[in-house]
Amino acid sequence: MAGKEKTKLTVNDLLAKKATGEPIVCLTAYDFPSASIVDDAGVDLILVGDSLGMVVQGHENTLKVTLDHIIYHTEIVTRAAKRAFVVADMPFMSFQVSRKKTVENVGRVIKESGAQAVKLEGATAETLDAIRTLTEAGIPVMGHVGYTPQSTHVFGRKIVQGKTADQARVLMEEARNLQKAGCFSIVLEMVPQELAAAITESSEVPTIGIGSGPDCDGQILVFHDLIGYYTGYIPKFVRRLVDIKEVIGGATAEYAQLVRGRRYPSEDESVSLPDGVLEEIRASKRGD
Ligand code: KIV
Repeated sequence: MAGKEKTKLTVNDLLAKKATGEPIVCLTAYDFPSASIVDDAGVDLILVGDSLGMVVQGHENTLKVTLDHIIYHTEIVTRAAKRAFVVADMPFMSFQVSRKKTVENVGRVIKESGAQAVKLEGATAETLDAIRTLTEAGIPVMGHVGYTPQSTHVFGRKIVQGKTADQARVLMEEARNLQKAGCFSIVLEMVPQELAAAITESSEVPTIGIGSGPDCDGQILVFHDLIGYYTGYIPKFVRRLVDIKEVIGGATAEYAQLVRGRRYPSEDESVSLPDGVLEEIRASKRGD
């Protein structure tokens, strides 16, 4: 993709991929260098996820992420993403208070960050109501059901959702409701693969799986998990394709050795005074 003229993807492009069966490639990103790399690699959708609470800020969960954090990181990512469709994750308590407050907060995110869409977790009656209002106002909304990290105090640790027939029925209904409310896409997190496949088959909008098997219309992972740039808990569904922590750790340790051994910087990495200047300085010090 590097060097090629890039056209920004739209909701219609993502829907077209569902229609043709072309998998939608999604990743999270939170800063300029990572978003540029992800965009250059041809990823279709970048989510500025509230997972930044863990992988960037070092918290235990996503709950401390604020609207301002999301706006700050999304604005950086949108400047880097020349082709990828950028979605901003609405953080905990930014859309659960009232419809008026939700519209205000989403409006700020879209205006100030340049995101093309927002993601809202869950499918409660209030959330569906908010999604209807936002989509009617022309703001694309991505849904998110299954394991929803903002409900960590309800779920406890990350666990697969929808394992019993009753739970599966609820999840299917939630996905249907999100689609009816106007979502252009739905994240399915930690849903059994058979259930994710059934939801995908019956859905007109693309499903994006994370820990939900191979049959979703697209897949998403947290960038830091994929490249091994995070030292916390890594779920079983993550495929780590490079251990960048090792690479960075090795380079940092080597740098420390070079500095301590006075082997950095070298002559070539230093700048010298022009000929004669040092002598002039010495002479003026002596008062010649
Ligand atoms: O916050 C996030 O990164 C997410 C994805 C894991 C779907 O919600």
